[in-house]
Amino acid sequence: MEVSEGLLYLGGISADSLLERFGSPLYVYEKDVLINRFRKMINCFPSDEVDIHYAMKANYNPSLLNLLRVEGACIDAVSMGDVQMALEVGFQPQQILFTGNNSRFSEIEFSMERGVPVNLGSLDLLQQYAIRYPGTSVSIRVNPGMGAGHHAHCITGGPDSKFGIYQDRLNDALRISETHSLKITGIHSHIGTGIRKTEAMLEAMDLILDAAKRFPDLEFVDFGGGFDIPYRDSDEELDLEELGQCMRQRFEQFCRDYGSVLKMKIEPGRFIIGPAGTLLATVTNLTETPAKRFVGLDTGFNHLVRPIMYGSYHRIVNASRMNDPTQEVAVAGNICESGDVFTRDLENSTRTLGIPQLGDCIAILDTGAYGLSMGSQYNLRELPEEVLVSGGDAIVIRRRQTFKDLIQNFNWFDEKRF
Ligand SMILES: Cc1ncc(COP(=O)(O)O)c(C=O)c1O
Repeated sequence: MEVSEGLLYLGGISADSLLERFGSPLYVYEKDVLINRFRKMINCFPSDEVDIHYAMKANYNPSLLNLLRVEGACIDAVSMGDVQMALEVGFQPQQILFTGNNSRFSEIEFSMERGVPVNLGSLDLLQQYAIRYPGTSVSIRVNPGMGAGHHAHCITGGPDSKFGIYQDRLNDALRISETHSLKITGIHSHIGTGIRKTEAMLEAMDLILDAAKRFPDLEFVDFGGGFDIPYRDSDEELDLEELGQCMRQRFEQFCRDYGSVLKMKIEPGRFIIGPAGTLLATVTNLTETPAKRFVGLDTGFNHLVRPIMYGSYHRIVNASRMNDPTQEVAVAGNICESGDVFTRDLENSTRTLGIPQLGDCIAILDTGAYGLSMGSQYNLRELPEEVLVSGGDAIVIRRRQTFKDLIQNFNWFDEKRF
């Protein structure tokens, strides 16, 4: 991302010209940012010691997945759709780990039939699995009794969380595995997403390793994802080098005590893809109230739900007027809900942008993770196009939905039928 002559450039192309060429709104991914983020991860968690399972829930566009596959990523999948997509992209079954939650047993069977390892997050599933696949190897998701995350909805450990087998029920997991000659070869945990405090990750790591000690057949321990990114100008990047070193040292010590060399796994999503994505939209209206100046866009929470769902903060810039005089504004979407305001973060704040005019291109930054992957068809509006940019070139990696796409699953029936 660069600024030149007052315009924002992504992958060497101005945001304005991207909208002109591909239409608005538009998700743009910078290939070089994505690759650099992944390589940074690999530098801090080298592949001879650590498998990096990219959490594809953050963004499952197959072209992006393929770039990561070539770079050496493995996959964290959470649904049959994820598993199928990862296989389509060319990941080997053994590179994927399926961690559903409240999964139907048919989802487990689906993965097993394709040779994709499953990670079971409840005693019920473990029991069903043990009866159906006795004598096999499997991993389990443990709730270490603590969690962390950028919002209460994103904390996936601790007594209020639905995820994993709670640490005080691990005896039951051991009993089930012994009864059915199962080998528990992996312990997995993911305590939440958007974690800025690395101490929380390390604390959880100790608890997970404590739990892992009790399982004699381990081949890996998976510490999940959660690595946050700077969303505000004032946020600092995580010190990934230090965190990586700390985690690897602790793990090495654990392996020495455990008596064998195990593989460590992590599952970052946001860290890798978040900063690579930008949502571009066009100013369609300027509305003043006694309290605020609203800049209306042709996108909404159907394309980026994080601000309304979590009160999340995203930096927003006027990509057409990066060097112009500025104005304090609220940036609103086109969905019929009063909460559809992108600047409605926890402080219900505003942003300072180059004074917006109708037709300007507004860029909402760091939207690569949990952006379009959480999109919806609310208000019967189409999902936008996605393009990948690099070195002045751009390619469409997902076409814009059409009205036909939106309505294709509806059945019209004769109203006299009932
Ligand atoms: C099991 C699991 N692993 C990994 C992740 C990725 O988290 P993040 O994108 O914060 O790295 C998630 C997301 O919540 C998850 O549920």
